[in-house]
Amino acid sequence: MNEEQKKAQINKSSTGEKDYSQYFETTYTPPSLKQAKKRGKENIEIHYDFDVPEDMQQIGKDKKFLIRTYGCQMNEHDSENMAGILMRMGFESTAAVEEADVILINTCAIRENAENKVFGEIGHLKALKQENPGLVIGVCGCMSQEESVVNRILQKHQQIDLIFGTHNIHRLPELLKNAIFGKEMVVEVWSKEGDIIENMPRARKGKIKGWVNIMYGCDKFCTYCIVPYTRGKERSRRPEDIIEEVRHLARNGYQEITLLGQNVNAYGKDLADIDYGLGDLMDEIRKIDIPRVRFTTSHPRDFDDHLIEVLAKGGNLVEHIHLPVQSGNNDILKLMARKYTRESYVELANKIKKAIPNASFTTDIIVGFPNETEEQFEDTMTLVKEMEYDSAFTYIYSPRDGTPAAKMEDNVPHEVKKKRLARLNALVNELSAEKNKEYPGKTVEVLVEGESKKDPEVLSGRTRTNRLVNFRAPKSTIGTVIYVKITEAKTWSLNGEVVEPAEVNI
Ligand code: SAH
Ligand code: SF4
Ligand code: F3S
Repeated sequence: MNEEQKKAQINKSSTGEKDYSQYFETTYTPPSLKQAKKRGKENIEIHYDFDVPEDMQQIGKDKKFLIRTYGCQMNEHDSENMAGILMRMGFESTAAVEEADVILINTCAIRENAENKVFGEIGHLKALKQENPGLVIGVCGCMSQEESVVNRILQKHQQIDLIFGTHNIHRLPELLKNAIFGKEMVVEVWSKEGDIIENMPRARKGKIKGWVNIMYGCDKFCTYCIVPYTRGKERSRRPEDIIEEVRHLARNGYQEITLLGQNVNAYGKDLADIDYGLGDLMDEIRKIDIPRVRFTTSHPRDFDDHLIEVLAKGGNLVEHIHLPVQSGNNDILKLMARKYTRESYVELANKIKKAIPNASFTTDIIVGFPNETEEQFEDTMTLVKEMEYDSAFTYIYSPRDGTPAAKMEDNVPHEVKKKRLARLNALVNELSAEKNKEYPGKTVEVLVEGESKKDPEVLSGRTRTNRLVNFRAPKSTIGTVIYVKITEAKTWSLNGEVVEPAEVNI
């Protein structure tokens, strides 16, 4: 059967659930969101013996790869693992698309516009593939976990050679080998999470700031969210493995780490043999000689007193808390299944402020959840004012197939949602600008990250609360912590001049 006939066969199938297996010589394991929803009790094993098999270490000799990453920090970090694996297979990295022999698109499924961007990119790559038929294009990440996406690629994007998901990144050597040497598209997506694979080779993007996964998956099932389906059940790494990784980064000169998880406050709950949570982990990491430690993302519901106590010890634990609220209205919060109220959220924030007086808060907000009324939206606006967030990521609700909210009827026109988003953004910006106005004259601690975007003569870095600061200083300060006296406040950033540490205010 040729490609056209195969496509015709697939399209002709009258059953809703299409079975493509007969058309594929190699592994064909498509995803199922239904399977992904299940949460089993099976034990998660940890493997410490991962390596790229010897016979695959030369596959990439004289060849180059490029990874395009969409989505959250988790995806950024997964891409670092994939880059590490590809380098271990002999590939070199390139930033030029025309030079690449392998292109991986690490995708995000969180909102429809994230998915549209990826399909746009897949479309663009068609021409490149025609010019260079030897090019291997892979799609991975959260979108691969959705059967609708895999079906669409099979039907309309035959230029793709490989599809794998978030649970089988460690299978990349084998899968890529099959994609390079086989004739058919390789599809291997695991709907259920597998074991934890430690010691994957890793090519970190920067030398100053590093990501450290502390857990995988999410069991919160907020009704709008696709992540529990694309990332599987909550699984925590062992504390000793995390601590060893942080120590390793500290030894290698890293200045800042961010502990990563979809819901880091649930860390440790699945570790059956020890009673150990995020507070305990942070208390250990606090003692490691690395200037700054952040964590993301917190779920307000699991934020416990022990963690607050530990964060209040300060030191390298920065006083910045990203605490997604999503909505300021209790009925909407209930429909979202966030399992906290506006009042309990504010109470938690106040408790944190009391323990850590100069704590800064940022958040995530969704506007236009199904049937959100004007009054309910106003509750979000008043909450934002009450909380005085430093900044906020704001989104228009996007229905995700397979989630409970996607089945809710929605009487709010898109135009109304867009207007609400604009109003919310104006408020968030106003608050951020106002906060910045308090800074001139103060001295802040800044981790110097590199040249500023606009002017290579000016350097930029971030405060402990993640504010962007621009200043003139020798390039040798890049990757160090310095002190900057703020001279001017802008909406999004602060300008200042370097001073001696004795004058620090914040
Ligand atoms: N695990 C994190 C973040 C998950 S995704 C948390 O729980 O906070 C990041 C943000 O995307 C969410 O906080 C939410 O504000 C937004 N988001 C998730 N699903 C969405 C959807 N279907 N439509 C619009 N925004 C969404
Ligand atoms: Fe999604 Fe909620 Fe889990 Fe965050 S906590 S990843 S919003 S389901
Ligand atoms: Fe997107 Fe997946 Fe992250 S859906 S936000 S890349 S967990």
